[in-house]
Amino acid sequence: MIIITSPREKLAGELTIPGDKSITHRAIMLGALARGVTEIRGFLDAEDCWSTVNCLRALGVKITLKGRRLLVEGRNKKLTEPAGKLDAGNSGTTARLLLGILAGQDFRATLSGDRSLQQRPMKRIIDPLRQMGADFEDNEGTLPISIRGGKLQPISFKSPRASAQVKSAVLLAGLFADGATVVEEPSRSRNHTELMLSRFGAGIRVDDNRITLQGRTVLKGGPVRIPGDISAAAFLMVAAAITPGSELLLKDVGVNPTRSGVIDVLLEMGASLELQQEKTWGREPVADIMVKGNTGLKGVKIGGEMIPRLIDEIPVLAVAAAVAEGKTIISDASELRVKESDRISALAGELKKMGVRIEETDDGLVIEGGEKLQGADVQSCGDHRVAMALAVAGLAAEGETAVSDAEVINISFPGFMQALRSVIDN
Ligand code: S3P
Repeated sequence: MIIITSPREKLAGELTIPGDKSITHRAIMLGALARGVTEIRGFLDAEDCWSTVNCLRALGVKITLKGRRLLVEGRNKKLTEPAGKLDAGNSGTTARLLLGILAGQDFRATLSGDRSLQQRPMKRIIDPLRQMGADFEDNEGTLPISIRGGKLQPISFKSPRASAQVKSAVLLAGLFADGATVVEEPSRSRNHTELMLSRFGAGIRVDDNRITLQGRTVLKGGPVRIPGDISAAAFLMVAAAITPGSELLLKDVGVNPTRSGVIDVLLEMGASLELQQEKTWGREPVADIMVKGNTGLKGVKIGGEMIPRLIDEIPVLAVAAAVAEGKTIISDASELRVKESDRISALAGELKKMGVRIEETDDGLVIEGGEKLQGADVQSCGDHRVAMALAVAGLAAEGETAVSDAEVINISFPGFMQALRSVIDN
């Protein structure tokens, strides 16, 4: 459990944000498939990424820690049959991307995960991989899933949703197919897989929302530097933005435009954010983000093509909306119902306990902001991002907020509470 009281002081100082979770998973996986050693600097040392490391170790990949770096010894695409079940823990990215890789391996493997992951939809991955030639034993479209990979044929896949996990699974399988695999999505989801594949020397072409990958090219490992995770930084951005007088500098955060919707929306709400020291690491844009706290945030509408650019930041944006004056309407976000928890009902249920006027819709939330938040006993609902969002809400509430089952924060941001306290106590 964590206990939060409204800070008497503003948030001030500087923080380095832990490595990007999505990019860390991809660096480990592509490193495993490449030829040579991939040295990963700034990787996210959190439970979800260890799930990826452990699955790949079970598939014969040697992965070691050298100081703060992770060394992945590439297997040039050929993994070995695991002795037991692979465990993706709580990590949807591990499960879905790994199925893409297993589709190209000439052995049978069974993949499972924790209770939450076992409820999440996998048919969206199974369908295209089956079309490519992977053999899935009977399953209900959820984990555990047994797959036998082998010889794959390339497909042209029109994805019904803007999902980076679906896109990435098909592209990773495409590495094992003869010829060109094409994935088209309705709008652009995060493009870290494309950027890293290109960096590792794969033949990949991107035309708007259509990606073409040439199969069977050799990937070349090398050094990778991971930017700070904008999805982790978002909790601190909102914490500072809603605490008047704050001046918080978040260092070396990934600001890839397929992920930076949270910055656009906070600016539209009237928050003060500025990108400084802009640069590129690998092919990923990176910047320091200066956030100043002010009063007078206002409600906004969030929907359409913006949603994939901030899908993981909606829990904390709901908190910003609760503090802002006026109505915020979030729509086109039904995917939130199949994340680590049903985030629409988790947020509505828990924020209501804090006095927020918030209602669920099928595909989003309607929040009437401006009411003073009240401290309350709330629950993480087993979801790391819900837990951190509630902690940020606690900063704006009168009295004490207790978030139970908050250890789940270790899934993506171990040290979150220490980071928050270090800038409050300044
Ligand atoms: C991720 C993609 C998104 C996101 C998830 C991480 C990734 O999921 O919500 O936290 O690393 O590819 P979807 O692909 O299901 O939209």
